[in-house]
Amino acid sequence: MKLVHTVEDLRAALRPFNSPVFVPTMGNLHDGHLALVRTGKPLGDVTVSSIFVNRLQFAPHEDFDTYPRTLQADCARLEQAGCDIVFAPPEKELYPEPQVYKVQPPSDLADILEGHFRPGFFIGVCTVVMKLFQCVFSDAKGPRYALFGKKDYQQLMVIRRMVQQYAMPITIVAGETQRAADGLALSSRNGYLSEAERAEAVQLSLALRALARDALAAAGSLLDKREALEAQAMRALAVRGWQPDYLTVRRRVDLQPPTAQDAVTPQSLVVLGAARLGSTRLIDNLEV
Ligand code: PAF
Repeated sequence: MKLVHTVEDLRAALRPFNSPVFVPTMGNLHDGHLALVRTGKPLGDVTVSSIFVNRLQFAPHEDFDTYPRTLQADCARLEQAGCDIVFAPPEKELYPEPQVYKVQPPSDLADILEGHFRPGFFIGVCTVVMKLFQCVFSDAKGPRYALFGKKDYQQLMVIRRMVQQYAMPITIVAGETQRAADGLALSSRNGYLSEAERAEAVQLSLALRALARDALAAAGSLLDKREALEAQAMRALAVRGWQPDYLTVRRRVDLQPPTAQDAVTPQSLVVLGAARLGSTRLIDNLEV
């Protein structure tokens, strides 16, 4: 496996290949990232992963400075998973000057849920992903693939729509959320949890599961009951000491509240949640 730090070295390393498979990450890798690498590997002739903590997608009060940087351990894990090239640029390489051109995703998709609680987050994500795509795919001659986990469900949708709107010749592949034995969705931020918080953390996925079950049971009357069910799910976490941002039932297709037709078509629904446990903000979701 090759480790490169500049765009020039990345392009040189990619030159002999036709069909790159790309897994963008911010490092501090867990089995969810490695599953994406393993899923992607057979799709092309070279597998590339990037490790870059993207300042643009963090608000000033968020954890950019403390986000774990674990390059050596990440490289060892990527190599084991079959990654061929790791692109780990310093900040000055991707942002040699202030990034004034930015990708503005549509507000109906990007200003709700995560975008509502983290204003500007998806602008930062889309801008860096667009830039990383330019670095990885610009010289490719064959099919191009990029993999994103369903754990960041809204991010996956925002990127899919960006690729479609800009007619980028890239196939976006979704990876299933990987979970710990107790059901907690794997996330780099789980490392922030104390022992007691780690034991409690699974409650977010349990609350989402209960909300999905209640939404299914409501079926035809989901439209009337949805807000009460969501409030009940948020309360269930709040009484345990969590600070929920949202737990909500949405349409899979556009993350808008379900219509009467969606309510009786459970496979069109997804439940999504974000909540703070102590100082750690966790997100999760479940396709109903
Ligand atoms: O999901 C992530 O880790 C990041 O948002 C991404 C896609 C690597 C962009 O910085």
